[in-house]
Amino acid sequence: MGRHQQRPLRRSLVLATVAFITLSALVIGLVSVFSLQSILLNRIDRQLVEAGARAAASVGQHAPDSTDGPDFIGSLGQSIGTLGAVSVDGTVVAGAYLDRNLNSPYLDNQQLAALQAGDIGTHPTSISLGTSLGNYRVVAVPLDQHVAIIVGLPLADIEATISELILVVAIVALGALVLSGAGAYGLVRLTLRPLERVTAAATTVSTMTLDRGDVALAVRVPDDDTDPHTEVGRVGLAINRMLEHVSNALQARQSSEDKVRRFVSDASHELRTPLASIRGYAELTRMSGETIPDDTSYALGRIESESRRMTDIVEDLLLLARLDEGRQLDDAAVELSGLVEDAVSDARAAAGDHEWRVVVPEHPVTVRGDQGRLFQVIVNLLANARVHTPAGTTVVTELSDAGAEHAVITVTDDGPGIDPDAIDTVFERFVRGDSSRARTTGSTGLGLAIVQGVIAAHGGESSVTSEPGETIFRISLPLAR
Ligand SMILES: Nc1ncnc2c1ncn2[C@@H]1O[C@H](COP(=O)(O)OP(=O)(O)OP(=O)(O)O)[C@@H](O)[C@H]1O
Ligand SMILES: [Mg+2]
Repeated sequence: MGRHQQRPLRRSLVLATVAFITLSALVIGLVSVFSLQSILLNRIDRQLVEAGARAAASVGQHAPDSTDGPDFIGSLGQSIGTLGAVSVDGTVVAGAYLDRNLNSPYLDNQQLAALQAGDIGTHPTSISLGTSLGNYRVVAVPLDQHVAIIVGLPLADIEATISELILVVAIVALGALVLSGAGAYGLVRLTLRPLERVTAAATTVSTMTLDRGDVALAVRVPDDDTDPHTEVGRVGLAINRMLEHVSNALQARQSSEDKVRRFVSDASHELRTPLASIRGYAELTRMSGETIPDDTSYALGRIESESRRMTDIVEDLLLLARLDEGRQLDDAAVELSGLVEDAVSDARAAAGDHEWRVVVPEHPVTVRGDQGRLFQVIVNLLANARVHTPAGTTVVTELSDAGAEHAVITVTDDGPGIDPDAIDTVFERFVRGDSSRARTTGSTGLGLAIVQGVIAAHGGESSVTSEPGETIFRISLPLAR
């Protein structure tokens, strides 16, 4: 079932107004036409009665029979068009009417037949007498038991008057309709215009990104549209209050995020020095030359490696905090082919039990950015392909600039792939796909977060697709112009 289609308010208001006015015009028109018609019929009925009386008087004592024509037609005082006929024992025998030249031509047989068929009584009725005479109002005036005279007056005048009235009413109604339609349209537009401005303000806000970053929510409904005495003004006022609240909430959110970021970045920064000291002292003690028991030597080695790992984590956190703060990275020309080849040969040296392949174009591929961070991105991807796949896995690293707009690096491995439940979140911080294995391999789940953060800071994009036997990490960076 489709939803009920809603019309815009503007159109409904105009349509409703026009419909009401059409209806009123129709009612007024019908009432005036019908009342005028009944007034005029009443009048002609009175005239008919008088004409009947005059005719009866002119006939006098001498009752006409079938041989007499309706001579009473010509009698003084009858108006033009007056019709007269004689009926003997219910049969119309002869008739005539008074024409424009005051002659009284006889009715033809057809017209007589129409009179006969009209079954005329002592109450006036309307009948049609064909095309030449038109409609008539007729009445019978009995003279004695056998003979009656029929008198008629033409309805042509009344009909013409009514037609004229209908025409006038129609023209006036049409004019009123057009005027009121245009007026309603203009009025509705005028009154709804503030609503459009309020809508525009709300729409602007709805297209803004509010969920991150420092949002300056400066949009407000204009003051003119916030008058609490009008309906639209109240909407505008409510929207402005809401925007004020949202703006405050966004500022509060931003300032607390800023605080957390500063805390992480300060804390990581502060941790670097003591970590360096721990590592330094452990190294110093192990190298001191004095004979130390094996288990102590092992413990010192662990202290060194763990503090090195902790230093890496702290460096990663510091980098992420700086990326969050939007701190500018280096902006130099970076040639990617060499960078990719270096990273792959490092990986090959670190893991000989994997098969490492590299495909780079002959020509240099240059982007603008921070060489150290971009190298770290490739290293992180290669480290994942090494750490999260079994020995014997083939890893293909390919660099291309096919689109002429972007440099694209893909790292593809034929390892077991990423768990489909986890794939949507692998770029998030501290997310590790297989936690049991990850814990033993000592991973923290920051590698891909850094990949994404660094690539985004370069205006690029990072993505992953994975199925068992084929995992592809793809990053693209805008080429240097
Ligand atoms: N090539 C890959 N094959 C299979 N799983 C992968 C691959 N790359 C990443 N993953 C999964 O994605 C998760 C997140 O990767 P990420 O690099 O962010 O963290 P990590 O490697 O676990 O830790 P870190 O890189 O910080 O040492 C990994 O724990 C792993 O489960
Ligand atoms: Mg990793």
